[in-house]
Amino acid sequence: RTDRTFTMIKPDAVANGHIGAILDQIFKSGFKPVAFKYTYLTPELAGKFYEVHKERPFYADLVKFMSSGPIVAAILEKDNAVADFRKLIGATDPSKAEAGTIRQLFAKSIDANAVHGSDSDENADIEGSFFFSAYERF
Ligand code: CMP
Repeated sequence: RTDRTFTMIKPDAVANGHIGAILDQIFKSGFKPVAFKYTYLTPELAGKFYEVHKERPFYADLVKFMSSGPIVAAILEKDNAVADFRKLIGATDPSKAEAGTIRQLFAKSIDANAVHGSDSDENADIEGSFFFSAYERF
């Protein structure tokens, strides 16, 4: 099966009207959609999604931010999806992101950093399963 990653367009980028521009850049870079939804994370769901960061100092702010407005969640397919997607989005801190990356273009801060991208194949699977049923991930 072709490699997969999971992404969210975060509340800042949705609120600022960047869904179209970000998806355009993703598709032009060769990622194919497997599953998509426009949805919301409650604080409880955001807390669960980011549970691995529970002990980190930024956890509370991250959960608050990620439940502050609608998001787009998607599973994407491409050879070498996880690594290529992380290259496309750029560094977590947008002030350190390379020119032309999605975060350099659209992100404002380390929390409001426009997009999420899975950091491993295993997490891509876990995160995709968090939002989508088995039949949607076929
Ligand atoms: P994301 O890839 O969605 O995964 C965890 C998020 O925590 C990360 O993007 C950032 O938006 C946010 N975050 C805030 N502070 C930090 C930090 N110091 N290091 C890593 N992630 C951080």
